Amino acid sequence: MQSSSPVIGGHEIGFAKTYRTDRWWVGPVLTFLGLSAFVVYTTWAALQGNHYFYGSYLSPFYSPLFFIDPNVAGAAPLSHALFGAWPAWWPSWLPASPALFILIFPGTFRFTCYYYRKAYYRSFVGSPPACAVGPVARKTYKGETGLLVFQNLHRYAMYFALIFVVILSCDAVLAFFREGKFGVGVGSIVLVLNATLLGCYTLGCHSWRHIVGGRLDCFSCSAVTRKRYGIWKRVTALNERHMLFAWISLFWVGFSDFYIRMVSMGIWKDFSTW
Ligand code: FES
Repeated sequence: MQSSSPVIGGHEIGFAKTYRTDRWWVGPVLTFLGLSAFVVYTTWAALQGNHYFYGSYLSPFYSPLFFIDPNVAGAAPLSHALFGAWPAWWPSWLPASPALFILIFPGTFRFTCYYYRKAYYRSFVGSPPACAVGPVARKTYKGETGLLVFQNLHRYAMYFALIFVVILSCDAVLAFFREGKFGVGVGSIVLVLNATLLGCYTLGCHSWRHIVGGRLDCFSCSAVTRKRYGIWKRVTALNERHMLFAWISLFWVGFSDFYIRMVSMGIWKDFSTW
């Protein structure tokens, strides 16, 4: 469709032209600022490769740990590594950070999420910036042959996201044990909230909702379909709040890393029962 096509309830021709009189630009601007801040912080934190561990708290940006260099400040003990010490084959021009092995999975999941697509199509590429507001003019529209092919990765990224929810839930449980002793610290609560919010975001995914309740013509026809209907209703309740959980979980996963970084660096004190 060309940008000059008439639109029901339409807009004037040209980028950001509209008949709307409300402050439609507030949402796209806040989204731009929020997502930009998160991307900048996450990239910075992932490239540090240090101060991602304190006591029994592991930053969600670094979990699971494939390899560890235990000599780095704020690194986890070598026993936490799935595959052992930092590999000699790692290119010297790349920062030696365990986060670089894993962030591609949650990153792909978020980037291809149906909600985030709307958010960055509007806020970053103005396509269109809001309902009934003129989009950035384009010579061609490639539809399913363009970026949307890549977006189909979402259904596969979702399987990895489900695995990450399990891993981060285990990290949250482990955050209550330090040297074999049970206790509670502010960091334990931070990581429990992190796993819970990421679970609410992931289990509200449109692809997940389709898996649990899709491709059925009849919900009431058997015990199995009735069970699936019950699960589908719960998933739908999360799905209806998907944008909310997308934002809260995004903020909280970043804050979780920041909190552990601060206590690992000795800047903040972790109040705890240990
Ligand atoms: S649609 Fe947003 S996580 Fe799947």
